[in-house]
Parts: sequence; structure tokens; C-alpha cells
Amino acid sequence: MNAVTRPRYTPTLRLLHWLMAVLIVLAYILIEQRGIFPRGSDGRFAMMQGHFWVGIGVFLLVWWRLMARVRGGTPPITPPLGKVSVIAAKLLHLALYAFFIVMPLLGLATVWTDGKELLIPFTSIALPALLPENEDLAHQLEELHGTIGEAFYWVIGAHVLVALWHHVGRRDDTLKRML
Ligand code: HEM
Ligand code: HEM
Repeated sequence: MNAVTRPRYTPTLRLLHWLMAVLIVLAYILIEQRGIFPRGSDGRFAMMQGHFWVGIGVFLLVWWRLMARVRGGTPPITPPLGKVSVIAAKLLHLALYAFFIVMPLLGLATVWTDGKELLIPFTSIALPALLPENEDLAHQLEELHGTIGEAFYWVIGAHVLVALWHHVGRRDDTLKRML
């Protein structure tokens, strides 16, 4: 089967998969590497604001992706997977979609309750906070946001390894459907 006729995810779903994968990696890099700039510096502030907006980008794109996914569905895998693998893949993908929604919401709630500024990019205009300041709640939300972020290193890592295993180990077309 050639590249044109083989079953693949729709162009929109392929574009959004790779675009959002890049955004997620960028969100992690910006927050994990913020320490390269000293506390209170412009560089540190820019890394934080970058993290916020890349995460908000994920939150905006996921709704487009979900609509495209409902319309486009998933192409079949050849040779087909067993029942257990199909269910495991569904659960893993569901967890990733939930992550795209929950992480930005927790991040935004942290920013607002902590009284942090969320500036419109390249301006000094702050967006209004939609939640009142509450230091205790901010700490709890930040903790939860960070813990889920840590846990998803494993989930995302597993996702990438399984995708590569399908390609080089099982030698099916799982990955080709996303290229
Ligand atoms: C999918 C998107 C996101 C991912 C994967 C993500 C990931 C993370 C991770 C792993 C941490 C913990 C870093 C550490 O403890 O060293 C963190 C911290 C944080 N994130 Fe996010 N985040 C996302 C979206 C957002 C959004 C949209 C906002 C706000 C608009 C946000 C605000 C924050 C804040 C305020 C912290 C605490 C950082 C600090 O005060 O030092 N995040 N994020
Ligand atoms: C090198 C890195 C990556 C590779 C090789 C890869 C590969 C794939 C493949 C082959 C599929 C199709 C699986 C199937 O149909 O059963 C897929 C789906 C998916 N990937 Fe990735 N991926 C990568 C990175 C990421 C990242 C970083 C994320 C987000 C954190 C992500 C999120 C998803 C989601 C949510 C799906 C389900 C798509 C759907 O059914 O609508 N991927 N990926």
C-alpha cells in the first residue's frame, strides 16, 4: 500500500498530534529549565509566562482536536491488535486527552489563586484573575499540578515507547498512520 492509499489519521489529527506533542515538550522544558535564570529576573519571568501560554495553547487546541477526532475516528491497524491491547491503548489515549484539559486548568487556577500575573504576550497587560487569592489553595493546586506533571513523564514515556515498539518490534502500521 502506498503513502496515499494506506489508512492514516486525518491530516488535521496528524497535524494536531505533532503540534501538541511539541507544545507539551516545550511546556515541560520552560518550567523545568526556569532555574537557568535567577529568581526575580526577566529571563525567569519570560520562562514562566512562556510555560503558561504554551499550556493555554494546549487547552485551546484540544477542543479542535476532540471535534476532529469525533468526526475522523481512528484508522484500522494492520495486523489488528488483540482485545486487551485495544482497551489498553484506549485508556492511555483517554488519559492523555484528560491531561490536555486538566493540566492547563490546574495551572490557571494556581496562577489566579496565587496572585501571579498572566500577561498578554509581548504586552504588560495582565488578564483578570477569575479566582480570588488564596495562598493555601494555591499551594495545594500547585502541588497537584506538579505531581500530575511528574506522573505523566511516565505515561508519555510509555506512549512513545509503545508507539516505537509497534513500529520496530511488532512491525505493524500503528506509527505510519500518524505520519
Ligand atoms: C499541558 C500543559 C502543562 C504542563 C505539562 C505543565 C507542567 C508543569 C510541571 C511539570 C510543573 C512543576 C515544575 C516543578 O515543580 O519544578 C509545573 C508548574 C507550574 N505550572 Fe504548569 N503545566 C502546564 C500548563 C500550565 C498552565 C496553562 C499554567 C498557567 C496558566 C501553568 C502554571 C504553572 C505554575 C504556576 C507552576 C508552578 C511554578 C512555580 O511557581 O515555580 N501550567 N507545570
Ligand atoms: C516521538 C513521540 C511520539 C510518537 C512516536 C507518537 C506516536 C503516536 C502514534 C503512533 C499514535 C497512534 C496510536 C494508535 O492509533 O493506537 C499516537 C496517538 C496519540 N498520541 Fe502520540 N506520539 C508521540 C508523542 C506524543 C506526545 C508527546 C503526546 C502528548 C503528551 C502524544 C499524545 C497522543 C494522543 C493523545 C494520541 C491518541 C490520538 C487519538 O486517538 O486521537 N503523543 N501517538
